[in-house]
This record gives sequence, C-alpha cells and structure tokens, in this order.
Amino acid sequence: MSDRPIGFLDSGLGGVPYLLSVRARAPAERLVYYADTANFPYGDRPESQVRRIVLDAVARLVEIADPRLIVLACNTASVVGLDELRREFDVPFVGVVPAIKPAVERGASGRIGVLATSRTVGGGYLAGLISRFAPGERVELVAADELVRTIESRLGELDDRELAAMLHPSIERLRAAGVRTIVLGCTHFVHVRGFIEHLAGPQVAVLDSVEGVVRQTVRLARGSAAGGETGQSDPKASPTILVSGPAGSSYRFLASAHGLQVRAAAAVDRRSGVHR
Ligand code: DGL
Repeated sequence: MSDRPIGFLDSGLGGVPYLLSVRARAPAERLVYYADTANFPYGDRPESQVRRIVLDAVARLVEIADPRLIVLACNTASVVGLDELRREFDVPFVGVVPAIKPAVERGASGRIGVLATSRTVGGGYLAGLISRFAPGERVELVAADELVRTIESRLGELDDRELAAMLHPSIERLRAAGVRTIVLGCTHFVHVRGFIEHLAGPQVAVLDSVEGVVRQTVRLARGSAAGGETGQSDPKASPTILVSGPAGSSYRFLASAHGLQVRAAAAVDRRSGVHR
C-alpha cells in the first residue's frame, strides 16, 4: 500500500466535488487538494499564461505533498497544459476535459451545448474534441466566467434568485439553440449542477465529468498501491485543501460541510506533516 496521497489541483474550489467523490469510493486514501487561489481565475487568461501558472502550481503541489497521482480538476488547465505537464512531471495525471465523448456515447439526441470558461470555449483542444467525437455537429459553446467568479467567492451564500438571474442568459442561449444536452465544461459549475438542471428543465440533460474522472482516478490509485488496495493507513485522515492565496467564505463553507482542512500552502512544507 502506498502512503503517498492522491493530489488534486484547480484554480479554486471547482475540483472539490471530484475530491469528495474519490473520498466516497476510497475513504482511506490520503487526499491533498491544491487551490491556486493566488492566480484565480485561470479562465480568462491567455493560454501561455495559464500554462506557466499551472506548471508552477503542480510543481508546488509535488514539492509539498509528493502525490503519486494528480487529478487536474480544472478543464481550463487540462485543455491548455495537460500534454506539457505529462512531459515535465514523473507523476500520472488524470485530466478533466468537457464530456463531449460521453455526451455522444450516451446517445445524446439533439444538439449539445457546452458551458465553460472563455479559455476553454475559445481554445483548440475543445474544437479538436468536437471534431473527433461529434463530427459534423454544431455544438453551442457558451462562456460563463462571471458565474465561475461568483461560485468561487460566494458558494454557500448564493440564493436561488441570484443564481437564476446569473444563469438565465446562458441557459436561454443554449435553449434557443435547441440544445438537449448541456456539458458542464468547468468544474466550478458542478457545485450548482442541480440548479442548472432545474433551470434547463426536464427536456435537457446536464452532464459533468465527475463519474468518469473518479472511476479512472480510483483505478489508477489502486494500480499504483502495492497489493492493489488504496490507502488504509489512516481512515480518519481528513482531506487537506492547500490554498496558494486568499480563501474566503466559500472555503469555510466547504470545510464545515464536508470535514475538510483548509491551510495556506505557504505555511506548509513536506516536513510539516501535511501528507503524513
Ligand atoms: N474550474 C476551472 C475549470 O474547470 C476554471 C476556473 C477558472 O476560471 O479559474 O475550467
């Protein structure tokens, strides 16, 4: 059994639902999550900048926690930086990209829509996914950067009216385009998935990548643990969220709702016990 944790990384709190789902499947694994809040948001930065920032963030996560596997729980980071990260680091990565392939595989009838950041919507990676898995289809792409910022800063305080007002223009655009499946192409949106489903109505399926990513993560984690079992050393260890910058009320909300520890990355090094 390996004592090295599974690492997660996002610009902020978007990857937390992925971490929670891995914890539910492999409760004894040690999980360390790096929220790069010092550089949040990633989604409206130029590609070269996102790539540099993500390389630095992964280097810091590796330095602090020495993960044996990293879930890049951010579509923006994955579509821009995954190839380079795989070349640079001797750690397996699970990337998180918009679930175009699963949307097609589940026989999505009618048009597909993607709700994501500007960077993901405007980049070549998503265009490549669409031409590979949904060739000839016109996929409706909608950027919702403001929603990302709102979820990051005020998750737990948002009321339905405010969320509805914020989501309304995007959902209306998708509906007007005749979309029957909405792919959540930004991990932050998974936090409000139920609400998006509610607004989109019963005719529209909402799809995220959590299930596929978590299945793949647990499979790889088992493969890299001697004996094929995931960590059993300390079943009570609560996952740690390391923040590289500010951690506002959303982090207090998540910590108390899900039993997570939040710590400043700057205050932690490998000897401090964060992964022991
Ligand atoms: N959660 C990230 C994603 O999946 C983006 C958030 C941001 O813009 O920083 O794309």
